[in-house]
Amino acid sequence: MLKKIQDLLKEVENFKSDSLDEIEQFRIKYLSKKGIVSELFSEFKNVPVEQKKEFGQMMNKLKTQTLIKVNQLKDSFTADDKEYSELDLSLPGSPLDSGSRHPVSIVKNEIVEIFSRLGFTVSEGPEIEDDWHVFSALNFPEEHPARDMQDTFFIEKNPDILLRTHTSSVQVHEMESMKPPIRTVSPGRVFRNEAISARAHCIFHQVEGLYIDENVSFADLKQTLLYFAHEMFGENTQIRLRPSYFPFTEPSAEVDVSCNLCGGKGCNVCKYTGWLEILGCGMVDPNVLEASGIDSNKYTGFAFGMGVERIAMLKYGVKDLRLYFENDVRFLRQFSSAF
Ligand code: DAH
Repeated sequence: MLKKIQDLLKEVENFKSDSLDEIEQFRIKYLSKKGIVSELFSEFKNVPVEQKKEFGQMMNKLKTQTLIKVNQLKDSFTADDKEYSELDLSLPGSPLDSGSRHPVSIVKNEIVEIFSRLGFTVSEGPEIEDDWHVFSALNFPEEHPARDMQDTFFIEKNPDILLRTHTSSVQVHEMESMKPPIRTVSPGRVFRNEAISARAHCIFHQVEGLYIDENVSFADLKQTLLYFAHEMFGENTQIRLRPSYFPFTEPSAEVDVSCNLCGGKGCNVCKYTGWLEILGCGMVDPNVLEASGIDSNKYTGFAFGMGVERIAMLKYGVKDLRLYFENDVRFLRQFSSAF
């Protein structure tokens, strides 16, 4: 028995290899649960008492020598060698996940695309604004309760610097810098100090539309919006206009489309009315034209403004606005589009 251990010790001492695989096989042969070392240990009980001490010592020596050998051989590989020897260049590469556009971007692009077919250009304005462009030039008198319709985040007071509450502010920039005819849509982010819920968020997106020229009429506005509704929600969509109030338009209206889920019969999405509100609009108030230096005797115009998340909710049947901001890929992956 002792002779056997001695032979094994020699074998361990003489073992050499430059292959990680072989070294691993060697380790398994000696040191695994069913390896030589543990098998010999299990024979310990059969060893005569007077040899037990020597046998034990030899066995421990065999075990440690083998461990040292394995570690030495493994350490002789540099980190790079190890990597290369384990690298199989014939394996196929791991595929890269391709991303998709955010549903709000898809719908925003689609809105812009629809109006561009009617000759509308795209314009953008700043998100940080002054009181003039967001309120005063749009015919909100100071201290007028209409300002409360849009809870505002102020950055500075006196003079007021604020986060725009609507993209109607871009109208003012356009009218100040361009001569009619003006035909433009303005997509962008807006900010309101509102409690976040399934139907409201403190950041969302709007697209504003503005058309100013000689002889622009309310009929032009209606036809433009009908075209938009057909393109966005389908050929059979109907629209209806309800009288409303906005300081910057006179007359003003809110526009509903027939519910595309129940076809106008009534369901829980349209609250059994058959109609869904999609935007506000009206004829640009002469005060607004004059405030930006446009002759209101010569020119008329219409404007409209819509929430992109709202249109996207209606289009995709999403019931909770917050999903658009959580960026959970399981939600986002469901939308794909050419836009
Ligand atoms: N700015 C309005 C809002 O955020 C939306 C709006 C209504 C825009 C009527 C318009 C308009 O241009 O004519 O609630």
